[in-house]
Amino acid sequence: MTSILGIETSCDETAVSIVDDGRDVRCNLIATQFDRHAKYGGVVPEIASRAHIETLDGLIRKALEQTHRDYRQIDAIAVTQRPGLIGSLIIGVTAAKTLAWTWDVPLVGVNHVHAHATSAAIDLESDPWPAVGLVVSGGHTSLVHVRQYDDIELLGATTDDAAGEAFDKTASILELGYPGGPVIDRRAQNGDPSAIRFPRSMLHPESLDFSFSGLKTAVLYHVHGTGKTSGGLSKLTERDIDDICASFSAAVVDVLVKKTLLAVARTGVGTVVVGGGVAANSMLREGLSRECRARGLKLHLTPMAYCTDNAAMIAALGHQLLVRGCRGALDMAASANFGP
Ligand code: KG4
Ligand code: ZN
Repeated sequence: MTSILGIETSCDETAVSIVDDGRDVRCNLIATQFDRHAKYGGVVPEIASRAHIETLDGLIRKALEQTHRDYRQIDAIAVTQRPGLIGSLIIGVTAAKTLAWTWDVPLVGVNHVHAHATSAAIDLESDPWPAVGLVVSGGHTSLVHVRQYDDIELLGATTDDAAGEAFDKTASILELGYPGGPVIDRRAQNGDPSAIRFPRSMLHPESLDFSFSGLKTAVLYHVHGTGKTSGGLSKLTERDIDDICASFSAAVVDVLVKKTLLAVARTGVGTVVVGGGVAANSMLREGLSRECRARGLKLHLTPMAYCTDNAAMIAALGHQLLVRGCRGALDMAASANFGP
């Protein structure tokens, strides 16, 4: 048996997990920093880094205690190395390097988006590759071609806002609170998705990149009037808000589904996997299920516990990379960028 300790600190969640043999998740601890950022309306990088420093050590200790493990029963350390907030990543990478050195075990650096893209495999009995991976979260919207755990190609990404960010900003326009995805999802279920025809930005018809900032502006002008940024919200009924939530969700989901199918056609694969926080969205889950079924494609949606940022996906992918010979050196650097 191989036990991997996974560490995730790329944004505003400190997470630690212990995974045996790449699939057996023994513990999956997540400390959110939600309260520390809420009053600023978004993640403040400096506050995030400090919170990781305060929380990480205790969380690692708790993971060992919960699994009744001694550090000598940990065979390797996997850590999110990129992409993300650089200050936050440095905390996790420094902790991982320190533990790898003192415990004398191998270290592996993991790409956070690759981990989201492969997280659907954690609960599967066998690997689903090759597959197109759709990663939709608060920070990322990417399409990747997963040929194998160590052979993942980026096919397209957002050129501006991430899908989750679009949900959060729309919720903020409608004063529905943060994070916006879950509440918009709930309100959308009572609304009419065809009530308002919001724009579907495809960029170029063949492009696998995304753009959601125009949609956010369309919602803003729909609420307040063209060219205005305030004054309109009080005129809307609860029913109007439900319709905006449903119509906005339909616009996001349409683009995500169309581009995923385009990526499938381009790569010739027969399987789609979906990860990231927005993978929890009911309209997206229904839309992808319907379209994949109609085309005879296999669809694997990541289990909810591994959709939002977590370290189980880091440890699981770390295991697969270690098995394939990947090793991080003790001078491994964190990077804010997506990388090769
Ligand atoms: O993966 P994640 O934790 O993102 C990053 O940290 O980058 O996902 C969080 C994002 C938020 O933007 C949240 O609004 C969105 O996922 N989200 C949803 C739903 N649940 C969470 N978006 C749409 N529908 C949902 N049900
Ligand atoms: Zn993420």
